[in-house]
Amino acid sequence: MKQPVTYELIGRCSHTLARRGRVHTPHGAIETPVFMPVGTQATVKTMAPWELTELGAQIILSNTYHLHLRPGEDIVRQAGGLHGFMQWPGAVLTDSGGFQVFSLASLRKITDEGVAFRSHIDGSPRFFSPESVMGIENALGADIIMQLDECPPYPASREYLRTSLERTLAWAKRCKEAHRRPDEQALFGIVQGGEHLDLRREAAERLVELDLPGYAVGGLSVGEPKPLMYDILGYTTPFLPADKPRYLMGVGSPDDLFEGVERGIDMFDCVLPTRIARNGTVFTATGKRVLKHARYRDDFRPLDEACSCRVCQTFSRAYIRHLLKADEILGLRLTSYHNVHFLLDMMARIRKSIEEDRFLQLKREFYETYGYTGQ
Ligand code: GUN
Ligand code: ZN
Repeated sequence: MKQPVTYELIGRCSHTLARRGRVHTPHGAIETPVFMPVGTQATVKTMAPWELTELGAQIILSNTYHLHLRPGEDIVRQAGGLHGFMQWPGAVLTDSGGFQVFSLASLRKITDEGVAFRSHIDGSPRFFSPESVMGIENALGADIIMQLDECPPYPASREYLRTSLERTLAWAKRCKEAHRRPDEQALFGIVQGGEHLDLRREAAERLVELDLPGYAVGGLSVGEPKPLMYDILGYTTPFLPADKPRYLMGVGSPDDLFEGVERGIDMFDCVLPTRIARNGTVFTATGKRVLKHARYRDDFRPLDEACSCRVCQTFSRAYIRHLLKADEILGLRLTSYHNVHFLLDMMARIRKSIEEDRFLQLKREFYETYGYTGQ
């Protein structure tokens, strides 16, 4: 069978698990490690697709849960799938909805069959099963589609984590069987298991038996301390095959990107850059900056003096602060653009550092200027 998504190894760090690769997809090659901006509702909030292209975005993430509820996968399929609907020429990944059901929907009831819930939009009763989610993701047409999984809360009892892990593994198998477009869309499995290393190992080993085109580590950044997240991650990735892409779900603060790459992760997504941008916070080389502070009222320097993005070449902190204070839409567009640029540019630097085998040196330099934000 033709594989829609394949992983090509380009180089390795000689001191860590960091690796430089290329993920081939039906919508182009993705240079990895990569950050995927999040476009939950088939839009990276405030950004036109040509702006994402200008910033060098290679793949974006969208959500089965949201698009199923509105506008419905049939509309998206009629438009030629997500690529045609939103006019994004690059690669797309859809998350399966399991995670969003748990964070947004009400009256959830999970069984081995699937998850019943009420829509957060109109309260209507819904049901997701591995089979129905594959039907939706096949219609949405992303290049990479995630299995339906259960992301347990932190903390959770070992007994609960065990049950949930069995369910997620059974669902992976059912997703594989229900997937109707395996030549065009790559189904990725998700490793769960909470904080228990033996459960993580077992989840990874049993998932890998399904021989899927890629694997994700889920259930992290759900409230556990960062050092614990890094330990679980560093323990888990070695059980994932070296010839397939590895994706860390929902994690993407600047420090997490360095720590994830160091532990062998190739793909990341996070709402952080666009979410904090909309409340007026921007990333800079020296840490986060909260533009609403009065001290920026007459500060005519760029958002980040070290940044090469169009926003920083053009506008001042004072102007962007004014736009935000006056609730002008352009303010949100400019902070979002800069923040997405910041993470994409950081990943480009990380890729180069792995090619030149100086990843740890770059990481050290980054923490020295950005400040250590761990814990
Ligand atoms: N996004 C962040 N974490 C998770 C996870 O564990 N599962 C899924 N499906 N999506 C996520
Ligand atoms: Zn900038």
